[in-house]
Amino acid sequence: MISSAAAHPNLAFVKYWGQRDARLNLPANGSISVNLSGVVTTTTVMFDPNLAEDTIRINDRPPDRVTHDRVVAHLDRVRALAGLAAPARVVSANDFPASIGLASSASAFAALSLAATRAAGLTLSERDLAILARKGSGSACRSVPEGFVEWLKGEDDRSSYARSLAPVDHWDMRVVSVAFRDRLKLVTSLEGHRAAPTSPFYRARLASVTDRLDRVRTAILGRDLEALGIMAEREAASLHAVAMTSQVVTKPWMSGIYYLEPGTLDLIRRVHRWRAGGLPVYFTLDAGPTVHLLCETLYLDEVKARLTNFAEAYDVRLITSRPARGAWLTAESGKA
Ligand code: DP6
Repeated sequence: MISSAAAHPNLAFVKYWGQRDARLNLPANGSISVNLSGVVTTTTVMFDPNLAEDTIRINDRPPDRVTHDRVVAHLDRVRALAGLAAPARVVSANDFPASIGLASSASAFAALSLAATRAAGLTLSERDLAILARKGSGSACRSVPEGFVEWLKGEDDRSSYARSLAPVDHWDMRVVSVAFRDRLKLVTSLEGHRAAPTSPFYRARLASVTDRLDRVRTAILGRDLEALGIMAEREAASLHAVAMTSQVVTKPWMSGIYYLEPGTLDLIRRVHRWRAGGLPVYFTLDAGPTVHLLCETLYLDEVKARLTNFAEAYDVRLITSRPARGAWLTAESGKA
C-alpha cells in the first residue's frame, strides 16, 4: 500500500518544555495548542521489500543525518507495530520554506505517523496515533486531533496522549505568525528540553503550570481572548526565562539559551503599545524568534495594517492561520 497523509503544525498556548522521559518523550507538564491552517506538511510512505534501506526525501532532497536517523527510528516503531521488516520510501514536503522558523517537526511526525501506519496496513485510533507521533516529536501528538488540543501529561506511555478540546469551528480566531527569515537555530528544542531542569526557575514554572492549564482551557471553551492572550504571553515568558537561565551541557560556552532576536522584542513592545491603545492583540513565542500574534477575526485587518511598518524594518514573512483540522489521509492506493 502507498499512503499519503497531511498535518498542520500547532501553536502551544501552554508550552511543552522539559521531559520526564527522554526516550518516550513524556513531558514534564501537560500542554494546550491550536492547529495552524497556514502551513501544511504532506508525506507519502510505501514499504518495499526490494529496497536495500529506508530512502527518505524531504523537500526534494535527502535530509541531514540527525533528521534521517529520527525518521528511520520512527519507521522502526511502525514496523514493530505491524510486524514488518521491509524498508520504506518516504517523501515529505512542507508548503513553506524550511528556513523561516516555522518548520516544526510536529506536522512532519504527525503526517509521517498516519501515512506510515496506513502504508503498513494498520488503522490506529486517534489516541494511538497521537501516542506514536509523540515518540517521534513530543509536540507532534498535538497535531493529530482537530482544532484546539490538550496533550495530557499522563503517567506513562499509554496515558500521555493528545485529545481535542474544541473543534475547528468552535472559535473563529486568527494567528498571524511573524517569522524572521534565514535565522539558524543554535540550540534545538531537544537540547532545550534537556537543559531546562538546570534552571533555578524550572521548578517554579512546573509549580505554576497546572493553574495556567486550567485558565487556558477555560479561556478557550469560553472564547475569552483576553484571558487566553495574557496566559499565552506569560507562558512564552516562562519558557524563555527558563531557557535563558539553563545550561546546555554540550555547549559550555553558552551561559544560557537566547532564542530571541532584536525584532522579537521590538514586536512584543509594539503589541503592548497597540493593546494600551485599545487593539486586542496578544502574542506567544516558541523556541525561536518567531512571534505569533493572536486576535479575533474582526481585528485581523487592523493587525496586518500595523505590521506593515514592522515588516519594513525587519526581513519577515507573515503567515495567517485559523484553527485547523487534525492529521488526515490525502491518498491511498494498492494493497498492504
Ligand atoms: C517550544 O520536542 O516537540 O515548541 O524538536 O521540533 O521535536 P522538536 O520539538 P518538541 O518541542 C517543542 C517545544 C515548543 C513548545 C511546544 O510546542 O509546546
